Amino acid sequence: MSLKKIVILFSGEGSNLENLIKKLHQKSVTVVGAITNNPDAKGIQKAKNLGIGVTILDHKEFNSREAFDTKLVEIIQSLEVDLTVLAGFMRILTPVFTGQIKAINIHPSLLPLFKGANALERSFESKMKVGGVSVHYVVTEIDAGEIIFQKCFDKSDMDFSTFKKNIQACEYEIFPKAVISSLNL
Ligand code: GAR
Repeated sequence: MSLKKIVILFSGEGSNLENLIKKLHQKSVTVVGAITNNPDAKGIQKAKNLGIGVTILDHKEFNSREAFDTKLVEIIQSLEVDLTVLAGFMRILTPVFTGQIKAINIHPSLLPLFKGANALERSFESKMKVGGVSVHYVVTEIDAGEIIFQKCFDKSDMDFSTFKKNIQACEYEIFPKAVISSLNL
């Protein structure tokens, strides 16, 4: 039986992209490609090194979010994927996207806390004893879709660098599991 297909969207470093490809590609799923909105994203080289092609769709070349999303949806639909995976994709998406594409996203906080930008910093600076990460379905309202997996840790007395490392370790653990779960594998 052939593997289910996913596409990964990213904007920057691409460490989750790299982790997903290494753990899942040609094992649990086929990563048919990656898409970035940032021509300078470090993740482009990471994907290429692992044999995954990257499409660059620079949002600055579009007049509106809807125009960008229309092109993005067209590319994703042409790939005939079972799931779209947002791994550090830093774009607000419109109903043009959310109405047509089944997607999941990773967010560096325990949702519904710290939705939106700078979640890592806001979660670190909060008085909470714990920090954590969430994987959720993408809906039009930002970071508000059904939660698939979460993982948390005690952040007492941590400096920011250790906090970030813990966040990343949680992300690398639960994101591949969430991909598998949302594909019913
Ligand atoms: C990750 O920590 C992810 O949770 C976060 O961006 C980082 C991307 O890192 N996403 C968001 O903040 C989405 N609102 P990476 O490029 O190394 O995977």
